[in-house]
Order: sequence, then structure tokens, then C-alpha cells
Amino acid sequence: MKLRRDFPVVDGVHRCLADERAAYFEQFLAEYTMVRHAEGRAIDDPEYYRRLPEPTPGTPTEWQWKIRRRTWATFLTKVLRAAPPSLVVVDVGAGTGWLSNRVAELGHEAHAVDLTVDAHDGLGAAGFFERTFDLYQAEMDDLPFADGTADLVVYNAALHYSTDYGRTLAEGLRVLRPGGRLVVLDSPVYRHQWAGDAMVAERHAQFEHQYGTRSESVPSIEFLTDGMLRDLGEQLGLRWRRHHTWYGRQWAMRPVKAKLKGKRPPSRFIVLVASRR
Ligand SMILES: C[S@@+](CC[C@H](N)C(=O)[O-])C[C@H]1O[C@@H](n2cnc3c(N)ncnc32)[C@H](O)[C@@H]1O
Repeated sequence: MKLRRDFPVVDGVHRCLADERAAYFEQFLAEYTMVRHAEGRAIDDPEYYRRLPEPTPGTPTEWQWKIRRRTWATFLTKVLRAAPPSLVVVDVGAGTGWLSNRVAELGHEAHAVDLTVDAHDGLGAAGFFERTFDLYQAEMDDLPFADGTADLVVYNAALHYSTDYGRTLAEGLRVLRPGGRLVVLDSPVYRHQWAGDAMVAERHAQFEHQYGTRSESVPSIEFLTDGMLRDLGEQLGLRWRRHHTWYGRQWAMRPVKAKLKGKRPPSRFIVLVASRR
């Protein structure tokens, strides 16, 4: 894939993050990595990584992967299988790169981008996979790729870390070929801003209680609303398609249960696909 310019490659990772940006993200990454490891995500078994998004029974995040594999199935049927073979896919906020691994397994060309090169939860985990895909330490608002080079730019549980969706998605659009699409997976979507704000307040309080940090050194937005999607569509000239996933009866009952208990509405996960109008 054509890059904007040459970048040094260290331990197999293109290093595209300028020093001052690395310094800006340093505290975020230290806190993020501490929390992720505490959640039990630093596992030394290659099999755990190769199975993803299939959960490994008995691992602490098994419940979460049971949800996430269903999103992956929707992405597979509604986006990947419905497209021509041999796509160029950019996996933004790739973490371990499990989605890049799956995409490469299907014969597409995958490029994993993340801030973190952590050996278990970042690009450093790529060695656990049998497939090879390209690795870039870079930020979502400044991708290392040349204009018009990708078929899909995928934000997998990652777009909500953006501090400015307009800027982040404009950068994704820059690297898309004509006819290419942006895909948002597993970012929480609410109908109302107040519900998202309430989730963020709860989450920061819980982090402070559990880990001693509110984890807010970078002002990530942390959720989407229907209104934000509408505004982004207008601002960037996008048409959104929504694909819904069946996460099971218990999941479907969450809004009703929340209402009965007088709690805020729960988040929804919708596979969002944007193309230029
Ligand atoms: C919840 S994880 C998702 C990882 C992976 N996509 C997955 O589905 O398991 C979010 C990822 O986004 C990355 N991230 C956060 N802010 C970012 C930014 N500004 N630029 C690039 N990656 C970012 C984090 O380092 C983290 O690996």
C-alpha cells in the first residue's frame, strides 16, 4: 500500500507517530494498558489470539467476545462477503490486530494501525498470529497512507476514542478510493446525548474507584448518538447504512430492564457503513 512518505520500521512496525504526539498520548496509553491488563487481556497463549473473535472458554473477557463475535459475523456477511475479493482494508485502532488477522485469512490485504505496540494488547501481539499483515504505529487522525488507497477503513471498537469525529472520519475518507467505505463496529450508539453523557460519567467514576484513575487525559468522545451520525453525514457528505445484529434475548431485554429500574438506556452496537453521497 502506498504510504505518504517513508517511515522507519522497528520490530516490524512502521513508526509513524511524531515524538510530540507520542508524548501527548503517553499518559492515555499508560492508563489504558494498565486497565486492559488488569481486565485479564495479557494472555501468553497464541491460541487465544488466533481464535479471536471466538472467545476462549474460561478467560476473563469471554462474555465480551461472545458479543463481539456476533458483530464480526454481521460485518462478514453484510460488508466483506458482499464486496469483491481482494480488498485493501485499513484496521484503525486495531489493538492486537485480530480483525486484520481474520481479514488476511480471507485473502484481503490488511493494514493494522494503532497507538500501542504493547506485546499483548497492541501491535506487538501480531507475532501470535500465523497470518502476516502490515503494522503502523500511528493515530487515527493522521494515517500514514497516501490518498485514495483503501477500499475499507474499519474502526473496530475504536471510533469512540476519537476526540473529533469530523476530523477522524475526514482522515478516513482521505485514504479511501472512490467507492470505498468507512465501517464502524462496536462503538456505543445512544439515541440521546444525555444517555451517553451518563455512561461516560459512570465509566470514569468506576475507573477511579477500581483503578485509581478516571482515564481522561485524552478527551475522547466515548459514544455516538443518532444526531451525531446525522450531523456527520451532512458535514462530510456521507450516507450511513445500518446493519443490526441479534445479540440474544438477554441483550434485547436490556432497554426494558433499564426502564423498569429507572436507569439510563443501555448502549446499542450497530454496524455502521458510510459511503460518499
Ligand atoms: C477497545 S480497543 C479495540 C482494539 C481492537 N480493534 C479490538 O477490536 O479488539 C481500542 C483501540 O484503539 C486504540 N486507539 C485509541 N485512540 C487512538 C488513536 N487516537 N489513534 C489510533 N488508535 C487509537 C487503542 O490504543 C486501542 O488499541
